[in-house]
Amino acid sequence: MSGLGNPQLPTQFRSELASVLLEESKLCLNTTASFPLQKQESGLRSFQKMAFTCLADFQAFAKDNLPKPTWEFIEGGADECIIRDENISAYKKIRLHPHVLRDMSVVDTRTTIQGSEISFPVCIAPTGFHCLCWPDGEQSTAKAAEAMNICYVTSTFSTCFFEDIVASAPNGLRWFQLYVQRDRKITKELIQKAETLGYKALVLTVDTPAVGNRLQDNRNRFSLPASISTKSVHVPIEENAESLLPVSNIDPSISWKDIAWLKSITQMPIILKGILTREDAELAISHNVQGILVSNHGGRQLDTVPATIDALTEVVNAVQGRIEVYLDGGIRTGTDVLKALALGARCVFLGRPILWGLTYKGEEGVRQVLNLLKKEFYRSMVFTGCRSVSEISQDLVQFSRL
Ligand code: FNR
Repeated sequence: MSGLGNPQLPTQFRSELASVLLEESKLCLNTTASFPLQKQESGLRSFQKMAFTCLADFQAFAKDNLPKPTWEFIEGGADECIIRDENISAYKKIRLHPHVLRDMSVVDTRTTIQGSEISFPVCIAPTGFHCLCWPDGEQSTAKAAEAMNICYVTSTFSTCFFEDIVASAPNGLRWFQLYVQRDRKITKELIQKAETLGYKALVLTVDTPAVGNRLQDNRNRFSLPASISTKSVHVPIEENAESLLPVSNIDPSISWKDIAWLKSITQMPIILKGILTREDAELAISHNVQGILVSNHGGRQLDTVPATIDALTEVVNAVQGRIEVYLDGGIRTGTDVLKALALGARCVFLGRPILWGLTYKGEEGVRQVLNLLKKEFYRSMVFTGCRSVSEISQDLVQFSRL
């Protein structure tokens, strides 16, 4: 029974439930969508009506409609793509341990990250080059995040100007992802610009002293089309370079001592993205960072590392609640989100699914992806007896012997 008719519920909870149910009804109505005119005119291939019932449907659309080298760039992992796929399959081995008869008429999906409230514990991971998927790329992504009241982590390799991204969604919660540039003066300017523009945290990517060996990109000699460029970092591409993407300016010399340097030039909290081990989690704490994002870069860097959901417990145990721990990689369903939270993640981040939504319909497509996942997460809370995010605990999960 819906909790909306209950006059004793506090207004805040009634409106939370109303918005989830409203989104749910919109999703039900929107499960059959035809493609926007401009997509048809731009020569994209799928004209049939398609049902978008899960994130994989958006993936199928993107596969069908992006140029093959672009699709392979987005979807690709490093080497044999073992860990890209295991990030996803590892969730399937975890079984849920539900609780019943807990009065699920009111369920609140909200939480906070670094003190800021978000509508549910799913945010947008930094991914570069959004204009490959939609004309105004990162600006549409930012608008969708603002509309959903979640955090968007803007990549150093954005293909819109940071000023335009912020102007598109001035009230959205935004964090800035940093690749330290070989030129430290440029790095400092990037950080200070982000801080001035209202970015609330600095997400330092620490798993990229080199770019992963992505076989399909090498075969395709993948490069950005002439009309698309990274707007805030300018890198000359050498014809004979291993990668034809503008990534050669990432500084391979960064080390733990640079955390103190970063702290000396910014007030933003620092979150390290790409930690997978207890040892590095302990070093992160001793260097006074404010958060860890457990990530293997969606399996695009070193292949055959642990799946992120498998690495999470080790990191959470080392951190002992002293700072917030987040996770990305392989989140595709609402139960994946629930499992990551049960194992200690404060919030999870989505990479590729955002690009699939962007390819489908820009801002609206990203919102549809997020709404679908919100609905699935809400349902997984209802079925496991969790009325609030704080009630999601480790006893909800069991590891299958299969
Ligand atoms: C990424 N990722 C990434 N990470 C980062 O720190 N800076 C970046 O610019 C990018 N760019 C990027 C581009 C593309 C096309 C992909 C697919 C990924 C990694 C990203 O933040 C995240 O770690 C993974 O995408 C998470 O895995 P899923 O959700 O894609 O499975």
